[in-house]
Formats: sequence, structure tokens, C-alpha cells
Amino acid sequence: MSSIELQFDEKNEDVLIWNGQVVMSRTEEEYFKVLFRRLAYLKPVSVLEIGYGLGISAGLIQEYLMPLRHDIFEIEKAVCKDLERFSDANLSVHSHCGDWKQSVIDQQYDFIFFDPFDYSPNQQSDEEERAETARRMRLMLNPRGVLCHPHFGDGDVPHLPGFTTVVVERLKVSPIRMADETSCEDVAIVFHRPDVNS
Ligand SMILES: C[S@@+](CC[C@H](N)C(=O)[O-])C[C@H]1O[C@@H](n2cnc3c(N)ncnc32)[C@H](O)[C@@H]1O
Repeated sequence: MSSIELQFDEKNEDVLIWNGQVVMSRTEEEYFKVLFRRLAYLKPVSVLEIGYGLGISAGLIQEYLMPLRHDIFEIEKAVCKDLERFSDANLSVHSHCGDWKQSVIDQQYDFIFFDPFDYSPNQQSDEEERAETARRMRLMLNPRGVLCHPHFGDGDVPHLPGFTTVVVERLKVSPIRMADETSCEDVAIVFHRPDVNS
């Protein structure tokens, strides 16, 4: 598994900034709280999470979803140290330091929370990248599992080939700091279910 070591402009418990871009900030916490509280009824036994960041979603998954197994992948070395501390304190959490794309993940999960940050975009078109991610996610999901990711803005949720998209709720939250330092108050709780016949 290949990890990377980055020089963050700012890294503390409230924000991660790299190369002038907000990788993650605590302004997303209100949204994530509503999201995981709302999806707790799914009661997944196994969860895969891509991207530890500030560990906000990881903590909420522990609190609201309470999976028996919670695997988390994180590519950046210093963030991975934070993840390792989190896994030491939470028995069901297994930390994996490295690029999820270069890892052999041969398990199937009930719930995947997909929230990486693209440090080197534009190698593939958005559509190609979505199709490739969807293909890999299908292999890692139980047939009745769901793939969930944050959705910012009030626009359409992009379709993932081989999945049916469920928009659970659209809501407004306190302003969220986006990667480019714009702010966003519209969010949605969404997930994707694998299509049975594809
Ligand atoms: C938006 S943050 C995740 C925020 C997290 N959900 C939270 O609540 O704090 C994205 C994280 O994904 C990590 N990441 C980016 N690309 C990755 C990859 N290919 N594999 C694993 N982790 C990756 C980044 O280093 C960063 O920590």
C-alpha cells in the first residue's frame, strides 16, 4: 500500500489545509451528524471508510452506526498516525495506511462511506473516474449494502453506473468551508444501492 507524506499549510483538530485548499474542516460536522443520525436505521455490521481526515465521520460512525467491523483507509502519513490513535481507542476500528486504490480490499461491506480528497486531479475525466470507482465499490459491497458520500450544493446527485441513487433528504446547514474557500449551506443525505441485475 502506498502512503504519501504531505506538507500541510495547516493541520489541527479543526482543519486540514494543503496547497491552499481546504481538505477537511470542522464546519462539516453539523451536516455529518444529521447524516449519520438519519442513516443509523441501516444498522450496518461492517463499514468501510475511505479517508480519515479529521476523524469526524469516523467518530460519528462509531457513535450512530456502531458496526462490528470498521475499516478505514488513509493515504497521508501524519493523518494516518491520528487514525492509528483512533483505532487504538475503538475496538472495532482497523486502520489501513495507504492509497485505497492500490490496496487489495477483498472483503464485502454493508456500508461504505467514500470521502477522499483528490490531491492530484485530472488524470481521468470525472465520468471515467466515477465509472471506475463505481465498478470497484460494487465489488466491495454486499448485495444489500449501500455506498454513501457527502453531497454539497442543491444540484443533481451524479448517477453511478450499476447503482440506484436514493436522495434521503436535502437540507440547509451552517456555512461549510469548501476546498476552494467558497462556502456552502445546501447539502443532501444520499446513498447508492447496487442494482440487482447489473
Ligand atoms: C475530506 S477528508 C475526509 C474527512 C473525513 N470524512 C472526516 O470526517 O474528517 C479526505 C481524506 O482522504 C484522504 N485520502 C485522499 N486520497 C486517498 C486515497 N486515495 N486513499 C486513502 N485516503 C485518501 C486524505 O488524506 C484526507 O485525510
